[in-house]
Amino acid sequence: MPDRQELEQQLRSALEGAKTALEELVPDLKPAPVAPVDTSVTLAGMVMKNPVVVASGTFGFGREYGEFYDLSELGGICAKGLTLHRREGNPAPRIAETPMGILNSVGLQNPGVDAFIADELPFLRQFDVKVIANISGNTPEEYRIMCEKLAEAGVDMIEVNISCPNVKAGGLAYGTRPELAAEVTRMAKSHAGSVPVMVKLSPNVTDITEIAKAAEGAGADALSLINTIRGMRIDVDTRRPILKMNTGGLSGPAVLPVAVRMVWEVANAVRLPILGMGGVSSGEDAAQLMLAGASAVAVGTACFADPFAPLTVRDGLAAIAAKQGLTSVSQLTGGVRPW
Ligand SMILES: Cc1cc2nc3c(=O)[nH]c(=O)nc-3n(C[C@H](O)[C@H](O)[C@H](O)COP(=O)(O)O)c2cc1C
Repeated sequence: MPDRQELEQQLRSALEGAKTALEELVPDLKPAPVAPVDTSVTLAGMVMKNPVVVASGTFGFGREYGEFYDLSELGGICAKGLTLHRREGNPAPRIAETPMGILNSVGLQNPGVDAFIADELPFLRQFDVKVIANISGNTPEEYRIMCEKLAEAGVDMIEVNISCPNVKAGGLAYGTRPELAAEVTRMAKSHAGSVPVMVKLSPNVTDITEIAKAAEGAGADALSLINTIRGMRIDVDTRRPILKMNTGGLSGPAVLPVAVRMVWEVANAVRLPILGMGGVSSGEDAAQLMLAGASAVAVGTACFADPFAPLTVRDGLAAIAAKQGLTSVSQLTGGVRPW
């Protein structure tokens, strides 16, 4: 009586023999060799090894996530939104869950641009990843000073946030009025030296293409969209809003269809490259934004539930491109076939 190990061995070689015989009889059964898909993309002259960036405010300065994996796996890191001076942010509660998303009213808590340059940028520079600094100002003058400092410090790109719904001064006002969006863009561009300037658009407008065109006219190198959508939740028993600021910004899977629609509209209205974001947690989500016209994508809220989400998105995108017979992920950009 052969023992269990011997039986297993016999079974394995019988199966291997059957597989080889079958492949000889039906050559098509052999999996076709998959050509490697080129995942690199270019965003306003900035070359990234893959199209996945982590969205501002959802990844801190990378330190905590860096304990899970090598940050060089990412295409880019968009740092937490910076202001000229340190900010405590808004009072708590400032995060509330919603079906398929979250509402936040964090309000740009950050250590200030100088502390970022001194303490956080050297940490991020240890990795082979593009570093995008995200800035918010109360006045065009504040945007000027931050751009000068960051250009001198040598970030790879500056994302000008004109769309934060959670701060009183500046913030959203710049993102909802074309002439103000143009003024801030012009100021940033003329003080960012050779560092590309990407303007982050708000979805809290009637026609996002008006703001996109204003930013393009003022010299922006790229656009990113969407920031969060203004929302509110109320505790029915206490009749109090859940967030201490009463309202907040909605993000997560619920906003993906809005993001896809807006990226598509903007891509049809301007010639600038787009970093698409809003609700991405899979390769398919990201592919939708790219087909709508984005050159790269950012993953935000999904990182809270799963720190590995950006890598899942990256691999999922490559798998979709391979399945569709593309040689490069960038071939997805703008590929939608509208009715
Ligand atoms: C907690 C939180 C903080 C955020 N902070 C910033 C910020 O500082 N600057 C900014 O431009 N966007 C900020 N955002 C917006 C995100 O970068 C992103 O545009 C938005 O959440 C949509 O993407 P998502 O659905 O993948 O999160 C923040 C979002 C969240 C959820």
